[in-house]
Amino acid sequence: MPLIDIIAGARPNFMKIAPIIRAIEALNDIDTHLKYRLIHTGQHYDQSMSDNFFTQLGIPHPDFNLEVGSGTQAEQTARIMVRYETLLLKSASDLCLVVGDVTSTLACAIAAQKLCIPVAHVEGGIRSGDWSMPEEINRMATDAITNWFFTTSKYANNNLRKMGVQEDRIFFVGNTMIDSLLANIDKLTAPAGWNELRIDAGNYFVITLHRPANVDTLEKFIPLLKNIGTGAREFPVIFPVHPRTAKNLSKVDTLPSNILLMDPLPYLEFNYLVKHAKAVITDSGGITEEATVMGVPCMTLRDSTERPETIEIGTNELVGTDPTCLPQYFERLFANGWKKGSIPPKWDGKAGQRIAEILQRIL
Ligand code: UD1
Repeated sequence: MPLIDIIAGARPNFMKIAPIIRAIEALNDIDTHLKYRLIHTGQHYDQSMSDNFFTQLGIPHPDFNLEVGSGTQAEQTARIMVRYETLLLKSASDLCLVVGDVTSTLACAIAAQKLCIPVAHVEGGIRSGDWSMPEEINRMATDAITNWFFTTSKYANNNLRKMGVQEDRIFFVGNTMIDSLLANIDKLTAPAGWNELRIDAGNYFVITLHRPANVDTLEKFIPLLKNIGTGAREFPVIFPVHPRTAKNLSKVDTLPSNILLMDPLPYLEFNYLVKHAKAVITDSGGITEEATVMGVPCMTLRDSTERPETIEIGTNELVGTDPTCLPQYFERLFANGWKKGSIPPKWDGKAGQRIAEILQRIL
């Protein structure tokens, strides 16, 4: 029976693997078809960045944790490659399934493919064209050595065709991150202490910021925070702070008074806040997808996106990273001029099931 390694390393991986594991287990309930090992690289290790997601999303305990921890891009990539290769040399698998675009995605794909273990990439083919982001390098390099692509959009399919990938290696399955959202939408819960804050639904903003381009220099970070605080007028802005961002935030003397800081939130609590927000302001890619599906206006503080469908079909707008661009978007929102948006094709909660059925067929 074929053995699949399912790789997860960082926060945005966990909601993408959960539905795939669930779908494989559902197939196996009927008859055992596919065996898998869950491998956590340990890229994210804090309870708030990892364990909370396993618990809330019902992901089984990993079979292996490579415990690589933090480091520079090269250090982290190298540690993951060495530790995953060691595992594969002791006990090989028949397929390495990677998701998304984090360092763990690329590192495990390289280690596996060099041992002639085929690679499947969930969310393959998306491109922002921005080589200054490590994620874009991870996407390009992973896709160059991927055998089977599970894609989220027609843009991804077209990018892969332009690379010369044959049609029979591309499977347009939808979006596993959205599978997780739809599976949990009725379970979303307010964060602890939310009621005491007395903030009404629709009367607050949520921000998430962690891209080096936005948070690593105070020259950029402080004006962004100031313009967000001003743009939001009298409304509170809830800011769950990523560990990378926390380091620089501690050097900011005065925050706009309507910005309320929180620790990183678990999945159900974070998406509760997004669902009921007036708008989300973010530099994350995944959150633009979730906001699109929940119909919540989304302002993206980046100059490019690998997810153009969230803009063309969804509720997302690409604001850019220049803080002076923000006011016009807040004006539009307060004038009730934000687009309504709809849901991209195949973002229907069934991507994991499609992936499991295809894996069963091709392995
Ligand atoms: C990574 C991903 C990014 C994703 C983000 C979500 C890459 C290249 N980037 O960025 O695509 O959007 O995760 O969170 O893979 N840290 C902790 N605790 C943790 C993990 C990290 O304190 O559990 C701190 C460390 O100081 C670390 C820093 O955060 O140096 C950055 O972590 P890292 O995994 O390198 O990248 P992210 O910025 O989290």
